[in-house]
Amino acid sequence: MCGIIGYIGPRNVVGVLMEGLHRLEYRGYDSAGVAVVDDGKVCGEKRVGKLSNLEEALKAHPLRGSVGIGHTRWATHGRPSDSNAHPHLDCSKRLAVIHNGIIENYVRLRAALAARGHAFASDTDTEVVAHLIEERYQGDLAAAVRSVLGEVHGAYALGVLSADSPDEVLFARNGASPLVVGLGQGETFVASDTPAIMEYTRKQLVIHEGEVVVVTRHGAEISTFAGEPVEREVTRISWDVRAAEKGGFKHFMLKEIYEQPKVVRDTLAGRIDDDGRTDLADAGLTDAQLREVKKVSMFACGTAYHAAMYGMYLIRQLAKLPVELELASEFRYSHPVVDASTLAVAISQSGETADTLEAARVARAGGATLLGVCNRVGSALARHADATLYTHAGPEIGVAATKTFTAQCAAMALFALHLARVRGAADPEELRQIAAALRESPALVDQALNADEEILPVARRYAKAKTVLFLGRHVNYPIALEGALKLKEISYIHAEAYAAGEMKHGPIALLDEAVPVVGIATRSPIEEKVLSNLSEAKARESRIIAVANQGDDAVLEIADVIFQVPQTHHLIAPIVNVVPLQLFAYHVADRKGCDVDQPRNLAKTVTVE
Ligand code: G6P
Repeated sequence: MCGIIGYIGPRNVVGVLMEGLHRLEYRGYDSAGVAVVDDGKVCGEKRVGKLSNLEEALKAHPLRGSVGIGHTRWATHGRPSDSNAHPHLDCSKRLAVIHNGIIENYVRLRAALAARGHAFASDTDTEVVAHLIEERYQGDLAAAVRSVLGEVHGAYALGVLSADSPDEVLFARNGASPLVVGLGQGETFVASDTPAIMEYTRKQLVIHEGEVVVVTRHGAEISTFAGEPVEREVTRISWDVRAAEKGGFKHFMLKEIYEQPKVVRDTLAGRIDDDGRTDLADAGLTDAQLREVKKVSMFACGTAYHAAMYGMYLIRQLAKLPVELELASEFRYSHPVVDASTLAVAISQSGETADTLEAARVARAGGATLLGVCNRVGSALARHADATLYTHAGPEIGVAATKTFTAQCAAMALFALHLARVRGAADPEELRQIAAALRESPALVDQALNADEEILPVARRYAKAKTVLFLGRHVNYPIALEGALKLKEISYIHAEAYAAGEMKHGPIALLDEAVPVVGIATRSPIEEKVLSNLSEAKARESRIIAVANQGDDAVLEIADVIFQVPQTHHLIAPIVNVVPLQLFAYHVADRKGCDVDQPRNLAKTVTVE
């Protein structure tokens, strides 16, 4: 949802901006642009399309300066084009503005500005900000920006550069548009996300909603919109720089698929002992609080929603609590019934997804205790939640989520086991067996990756399919949903997932020899039911691809192709079963020549509702 970057210091400014934009490109790639102050003037370049187009333009017209801002766009207002690319300038061309988010009242502001004689060069909501600052500027950039912030409504992270204030660059944040400042020696960095700055510094300041930050080469001064100074603790970036590199893999997505044994291990580390006893003290919810819970209300978006669904099945079955699950974008409109006895669980890799944050706000306003499950330390979700269970997946650069999903599933399994144990809701021996399987899951995910070579030719064979149906039941239903989502996101093949038992109530009408069916049929108490559903599909001439355990003859009889995964406890199996589906989607997309890491129209973090 747009990436923004800023730099002031002695390095090659455009080099730092472009390097940062590369790391932020996952946030949007409809266009990109940079602006610098050079010799008392604002100079810039911007181009529609991928960052490489901007790179080419900068080769032809190199820029230099000591302070600059850059932007990579995911279009909301105004189609992708050179003129709609950021930065946007005012009429005097002495101010440049970049923006992530939406200015909701821009139509009215634009009309008023036009009536006062301002000429607009784009169709964006952002440009009004440049013209408003132009009107208010009387020698104090921060004062001008502050006065404009009182007038623009919406969610935003803004960056403002002025030829008249070349020793500073200003940023402001309102709502779910993340912003971090990286502190160096005689240089300062600003970005939408940590990977853009972590190559240069380990010291970071997280900017909160409702704050302005004045950035100079000597550091950053944070204040509220009203101008009250804010003290912010410097946090240390613990992520490894190599985590944001491809490390020899063709794509980030493939690398991240292969990182899954490690991220599941890291997410479990210190939270489950050899006897299967869970300890989630780091999340910040006491056992007494968990015993008081009468209902769990879960919400999330996209891939995280599938992890939430897996969690729902586990919590119901093991902790024997009523669990409601809702898409975060629907939650606030569905008149959710929550009160002080409700534990709301919001799952979000980024912790910045606007729909999820809004649902979390509604749940808390209703009296619920909010548990955030997220991957980003210090994210908005983590800050607003009463407790946070972190996944330890490290930065995920591929837009299609993979390793953060398995980490979320591991976190869900941990949480369900913990809730069940604390509440005395399940047979301790059963919990011990599930916990043992969970502890073993990193090794099993590793084994599942061994099927990669067999998946490749199958993916090639099915790369021309127009529609693929994914089927799973119970805890493997969310895995079918995730398998279908991965395929459609990155290969643009239409894929649908159904609870296997539901197929006969409609989607069976789609089936013929041209529609392959991917079924998750690992050993479980309902394996036979799933096999019956796959047989129904086979009888309609569909080719059957089954995710199955070794030596399962019943599956062999039905399936045309088997993606073999190691067997484990059926409640933990989803963490392993998703791996071949991720690899299948990856190889299909790669075969089709799709842009795997940056699929069209998508953004990794969606900070608008
Ligand atoms: C976007 C991404 C998805 C992701 C979803 C939720 O739509 O493209 O991959 O699952 O947001 O993101 P979150 O950061 O809240 O987990």
